[in-house]
Amino acid sequence: MSAKPVVLVTRKLPAAVEDRLRRDYEPRLNPDDQLYSSGEIIELAEGADAILPCHTEKFTAEVIARLPDSVKAIANFSVGYDHVDTAAAKARGLIVTNTPEVLNDATAEIAMLLLIGAARRAGEGEMLVRTRTWKDWSPSFMVGIQVTGKRLGILGMGRVGKVVARRARGFDMEIHYHDVRRLDPDQEAGAVYHQTVEDLLPVCQFLSVHCPSTPETKGLLNAERIALLPHGAVVVNAARGVVIDDEALIAALKSGAVAAAGLDVFNDEPDIHPEYRELANTFLLPHIGSATRETRDAMGFRALDNLDAIFSGHEPRDRVA
Ligand code: DGY
Repeated sequence: MSAKPVVLVTRKLPAAVEDRLRRDYEPRLNPDDQLYSSGEIIELAEGADAILPCHTEKFTAEVIARLPDSVKAIANFSVGYDHVDTAAAKARGLIVTNTPEVLNDATAEIAMLLLIGAARRAGEGEMLVRTRTWKDWSPSFMVGIQVTGKRLGILGMGRVGKVVARRARGFDMEIHYHDVRRLDPDQEAGAVYHQTVEDLLPVCQFLSVHCPSTPETKGLLNAERIALLPHGAVVVNAARGVVIDDEALIAALKSGAVAAAGLDVFNDEPDIHPEYRELANTFLLPHIGSATRETRDAMGFRALDNLDAIFSGHEPRDRVA
């Protein structure tokens, strides 16, 4: 019987995923869930056939160049793969995969939570209760923005964006979107397509960001584009922090041009722009879009399905490089 492939697993994974890893591979697990440095990953990968990382590990061109020759694949436990320099991976002949689809529902749930939480001032309200500073009820107390029936703009109508549109229809929201491609009418389900971001923004009483991090989307929501939103819009981001120019959004939140923001992802996580914490009109979560038991299992199994394909000589379903 041939030896099982060796897989370096950079973070602690769900028990069922680690069980399957032990059954089919020789895994190098991380039971204490330490955050490895790039140097540690390079060392730990010595003799490994593949690496199963998360978005917390950065595979820059320099790291990829220093990986041991034994490593043939990077099977990400994430749908986003902006932490991997795919051009460098391709040039080196490394196979790279991700885990699409399985986190659509969980991430859409968090987008809806952000949208409602920001509009209805959930962070502020929770703080009042927790800190015993809730004094009274009054008609003017904690008045927020009603979600029902408003116009929602979805920036990036991909897998998650489409689920958000379905959930938002449950709140009678009118859906508008921009994507590089227009959807077929049956998929659009009445959503209004805008050919450019600039066309979309002026109609967005609510804006939910669902585009991946690419060189084109970095800083996409900058001061000029934020100024195109209706006064008092609510901005939500459950995709990637880099899409938003923090200084621009913070200035708009301070002036009231943007009434509130619900954010689950940030530039430079977890060392986020400190002013977000100081603002009362932000509702902030620590990148937990995919953090449900069901989804984390499914992400792990999907990463393993990709590894299984690779090591049985087949094309993995979710190859991105
Ligand atoms: C993803 O899968 O990209 C999530 O952001 C978690 O990494």
